[in-house]
Amino acid sequence: MCGIVGYIGTENAKEILLNGLEKLEYRGYDSAGIALLNKEELTVVKEKGRIADLRKKVATDASGELGIGHTRWATHGKPSEENAHPHQSLSGRFVIVHNGVIENYSLLKDEYLENVPLKSDTDTEVIVQLIEKLSNEGLETKEAIRKTLKLLHGSYAICVIDQKEPNLLYAAKNKSPLLIGKGSSFNIIASDAMAALKETDQFIEIADEEMVILSRDSIQIETLDGEMIEREPFTAAIDASDIEKGTYPHYMLKEVDEQPAVMRRIIQSYQNEAGDLAVDHAVLDEVLNSDRIYIIACGTSSHAGYVGKAMIERFAKIPVEVHISSEFGYNIPLLSEKPLFMFITQSGETADSRQVLVKVKEMGYRTLTLTNVPGSTLDREADQSMYLHAGPEIAVASTKAYTAQVAVLSILAVAAGRAKGVEQAFEIDLSAELGIAATAMEAMVSSKELIEHIAGEFLATSRNAFFLGRSVDYFVAMEAALKLKEISYIQAEGFASGELKHGTIALIEDETPVFAIVTQENINWNIRGNVNEVLARGANACVFAMEGLEQPGDRLVIPHVHELLTPLVSVIPCQLLAYYAALHRDCDVDKPRNLAKSVTVE
Ligand code: G6P
Repeated sequence: MCGIVGYIGTENAKEILLNGLEKLEYRGYDSAGIALLNKEELTVVKEKGRIADLRKKVATDASGELGIGHTRWATHGKPSEENAHPHQSLSGRFVIVHNGVIENYSLLKDEYLENVPLKSDTDTEVIVQLIEKLSNEGLETKEAIRKTLKLLHGSYAICVIDQKEPNLLYAAKNKSPLLIGKGSSFNIIASDAMAALKETDQFIEIADEEMVILSRDSIQIETLDGEMIEREPFTAAIDASDIEKGTYPHYMLKEVDEQPAVMRRIIQSYQNEAGDLAVDHAVLDEVLNSDRIYIIACGTSSHAGYVGKAMIERFAKIPVEVHISSEFGYNIPLLSEKPLFMFITQSGETADSRQVLVKVKEMGYRTLTLTNVPGSTLDREADQSMYLHAGPEIAVASTKAYTAQVAVLSILAVAAGRAKGVEQAFEIDLSAELGIAATAMEAMVSSKELIEHIAGEFLATSRNAFFLGRSVDYFVAMEAALKLKEISYIQAEGFASGELKHGTIALIEDETPVFAIVTQENINWNIRGNVNEVLARGANACVFAMEGLEQPGDRLVIPHVHELLTPLVSVIPCQLLAYYAALHRDCDVDKPRNLAKSVTVE
């Protein structure tokens, strides 16, 4: 996590850095800082908290045509001004911002920096102190940086300024994202293209273990062994307006509302010339050649994975297991003979998922990534990829990426089933069903007033909540609980409703809010029985039921859609419930405490 940005050019870097950092705030927002170099005069400003707090602290006349900035998600050392980046070397000459984790920082400190008093608790400071030490021993700056990088174990994306070289900006990366934004008479370095889109749409990738030396009008990329690399720029697929909030109060609400349009974009993107939904042959081959699919994912993406499992098993008749990345990598179960590893990841950068990808590739297995970010690490490193076409998702709480994942998984499941000749896969006109789901989603995003009212009634002051479901509704219940926890801080649990009576029902008290999602005909009466059980124990129950299954007293009717596509629609009132509960409780919806959107540490 953490976001970094660097600028070298002819304009004052201050605003460019602050604007860039605002766009990277989804990566962390514990503290922030910038360094500006004006000739050899250096200004460093750091602040605990958000970019808005930093902005207030930076003097209006602060300037420099070279600068670096950082927004932090704390890993080593608490969020504080001392631990905020940029960090400076002992003399103050070298300044660094860093995203990643240096695993051997303690060893490096003991071995090389015994006599250097460190000012922070961070792993980052070790890097900049090492650069200065090697520079003091006679190495030129570039060589001091290169030698330091070779000593590091772990992940890093860094930008370095040498106060004595005001015409150069150094950067390097390993396992943490970083790219170059190419301009005319300026260049930018950033963790994500979003940070530089206002300035340029031309970007150049940086590979792991490469370092970059930028001037305002030149870009030099080298490996750590000094081999020069030539790489052409590409044009960013998103433009600056895609990442603005527009008239919305929060990105989350905008992204919830975008979901029907994303559905239609997905249908279009996966349509072949004959108008059928189709999947790339190479991807299909991977699926058909496997005897079992292992879905590997974290958070919301893993919840989409459970729905994907139901669809792939039903339509393609291939067994699927869903695993949480952080568990799988260190406790690999007995695998089938021809497994396919499917990574579901909005960002394509999640470190927990990537460590599994690296491991299974080493074991010689095939890999497929479903991601929203073409060019991301998991996209580049997997054998095959499928894209979500959801557009940039900025709110920390994932919404449109989830529904996009479910939709893309349905397309894959049906395409694989048809290629295999599975009867069920021919029985569904998926394109039409996804279109129906898109219209139903529109009805759900229009039910804001009702959901806001329900959120006020059930969740304004409660300290916990339960979401109940069976089969695919259970998967949505897990996602609903995660949404609520993430942004309203209400302790919430998504439960298989039949399991509640085997222990957890002990937690039901007077007024405990219990939400039940009912979209499956075959379990309608079972789950209603479970709702009665909690009502009998004083709970406040609220049922969201699909058209045709509704009963008097249900609070919301979800329009009818295909039974396996119901998560696309039933999740929306749950997303809105979390949103309005967070508003009722005065929480920061887009930037919930302790979280970050792109989690690039394990
Ligand atoms: C973080 C985010 C979650 C997200 C998870 C997986 O924890 O806060 O919203 O679901 O990472 O992210 P990914 O990008 O791999 O889908």
